[in-house]
Amino acid sequence: MNMESTGLIYFSPTHTTRKVLEGIAQGLQATDARHFDLTQPDAIPQSSRNMNQDLVVIGAPVYAGRLPPVMVSRFKRIRGNGVPAVIVVVYGNREYEDALIELRDLALEAGFRPMAAGAFIGEHSYSTTDLPIAAGRPDAGDMAKAQEFGKSIRAKLMTASGELSECLQVPGSIPYKEVNSLPGIAPATNEAVCTKCATCVSACPTAAIDRENPGCTDTERCIRCCACVKVCPVKAKSLDDPRIKQIAAWLHANFSDRKEPETYV
Ligand SMILES: Cc1cc2nc3c(=O)[nH]c(=O)nc-3n(C[C@H](O)[C@H](O)[C@H](O)COP(=O)(O)O)c2cc1C
Repeated sequence: MNMESTGLIYFSPTHTTRKVLEGIAQGLQATDARHFDLTQPDAIPQSSRNMNQDLVVIGAPVYAGRLPPVMVSRFKRIRGNGVPAVIVVVYGNREYEDALIELRDLALEAGFRPMAAGAFIGEHSYSTTDLPIAAGRPDAGDMAKAQEFGKSIRAKLMTASGELSECLQVPGSIPYKEVNSLPGIAPATNEAVCTKCATCVSACPTAAIDRENPGCTDTERCIRCCACVKVCPVKAKSLDDPRIKQIAAWLHANFSDRKEPETYV
């Protein structure tokens, strides 16, 4: 199998999912893999895109134990054409609940053949210096595991072409858990510090930030991914709504014990 024609398909506002996928690609010896970055609103044409790679690695962060709805709708424009797929979720050290099984089903529905799966840990989007949650992850240990995972997939593909299992078994339950969204919350901007450089505008996956006035975020469009908070070069953005701070304190208090990546090949 030609690993150079590997595709990495991901949604990754704060880049931890992307980093894990790049580690897996290294293990696959697919360092020139083509990136399909669904974080960008226009990464995939509205019309749909046919995959002709030999293998794809599909990655998504876990949001409330599920996949981010915006990722799901963008992914649905892709046609898998029977291409083998490695599915990966990245979560902030709490739980991934039904996200991996949802990603498996999404990949199957699009016409991919899921053949391996992984759940990795990334710094929680709500992690701050005061309330760290999985800060700095994926770290060197996680990246070594991502590479090992890539190597084991490569070994499997080299020996078992055409014998991929039809339905990869992964943890999670069907029907998937229901999600209640928190409406009307978006990161705040410290106008005294903001230089209006618009770095946050380009990083926002849902075009929720006004380019002329980056202090203004559409709370209906905002998915609270914290891309703007983490990318701001002068730290003018923060998600300090009391409801989010309460969640962050709960995560910090209850989910600070290190979890390790899980893989299914
Ligand atoms: C809205 C939202 C919901 C989240 N829900 C969960 C969750 O249910 N479990 C968990 O462990 N982490 C959760 N996280 C943390 C992310 O899964 C984690 O930070 C991930 O590494 C982000 O991926 P990215 O860097 O590719 O954007 C959530 C993050 C956000 C923004």
